[in-house]
Amino acid sequence: MSNKKIGILTSGGDCGGLNAAIRSIFYRAKNKYDMQVFGIRDGTAGLIKRPVDAIQLNHKTFGGYLLRQGGTFLGSTNKGNPFKIPTGDGKHVDKSKEIIEGYHSMKLDGLIIIGGDGSMQILKKLAKDGNMKIVAIPKTIDNDVGATESSIGFHTAVDVATQALDNLQSTAASHRRSMILEVMGRDAGHIALNAGIAGGADIILIPEIKYSIRGIINKLNLMKKNDIQHSLIIVAEAVKKEDGSRVVHKYMDGEQRLGGIGDYIAQELMRQTDVECRVTSLGHVQRGAPPTASDRILASAFGVYAVDLLNQKKFDRMVAWRDRRVVDVPIDEGIKTYKNVERKDSLVETALSLGIYLGDDI
Ligand code: F6P
Repeated sequence: MSNKKIGILTSGGDCGGLNAAIRSIFYRAKNKYDMQVFGIRDGTAGLIKRPVDAIQLNHKTFGGYLLRQGGTFLGSTNKGNPFKIPTGDGKHVDKSKEIIEGYHSMKLDGLIIIGGDGSMQILKKLAKDGNMKIVAIPKTIDNDVGATESSIGFHTAVDVATQALDNLQSTAASHRRSMILEVMGRDAGHIALNAGIAGGADIILIPEIKYSIRGIINKLNLMKKNDIQHSLIIVAEAVKKEDGSRVVHKYMDGEQRLGGIGDYIAQELMRQTDVECRVTSLGHVQRGAPPTASDRILASAFGVYAVDLLNQKKFDRMVAWRDRRVVDVPIDEGIKTYKNVERKDSLVETALSLGIYLGDDI
């Protein structure tokens, strides 16, 4: 019988598989170690509230559909950095002390944080400043956290994008059009590359590889020579215009967010050729979809391992997936070795061998 008490929080953008991870953490902690498990609401925001906004998890919590559901039932926040929270009048306030006090008021033996590189960086600093005992589980549809082959949520996003290409193929063929699918990926092109291969794209544009409109047109012309009048183009939101500028939307809140590179490509192709283009931007559908089997499995395996780390008092570690097993590495390794698509990635070679256009000098 243990009297240990642990906390869980989800931080940053949500994704498929977060609920599966929370469920797995609860079952391991309860069934193996008889720990008390608390879910903190809305990421670090729950630790700022007084009383701290947390719920004790029990078997009934997971009796239903949660394993299958996208998002995070605990809530999350990606509203910036708690060291510098905007107050709305152009000023900022530092809430880090409140978070640290909130953590200690719960008398936890450790906290499992499920987040991407940004969240891990923030939580790592809070842990250092405030002697918080943390273990991290990597999640991000972008799959750009270093030191792990996969992060929770990536497979689900790839699956959603692949299904979108499947649906676009028939209508592209019916109308002899170029269908452009814009997918997420703030700095990395993993979703576009993986879904592009799985969904039979003819052209994959990712921020790591330079493309040209001329190169795209050449590829479309080549297809025409083979009597193929329609095409599928997948483009990651972080791809830049030919002149190197980023394409962003300005929102009502004054923030600029990535979006619109698909429209740019369409406009250029329609301006320079007689190709008829249509654009689909997938957006948050990639984040909210029910998790795929592989994300549920990854999340479950990560959850179990993370609890074992806490139980062994191995703090400041991140769980990682390597060679079909879970291992652990220093959190810093996950943060510092940011993972882009590299030229030597075997999927780049795969795409090229399939005749997919990725760029000119490749
Ligand atoms: O990092 C994950 C991600 O989904 C990116 O792919 C995307 O650019 C961003 O988050 C969107 O964030 P928000 O939830 O603020 O719209």
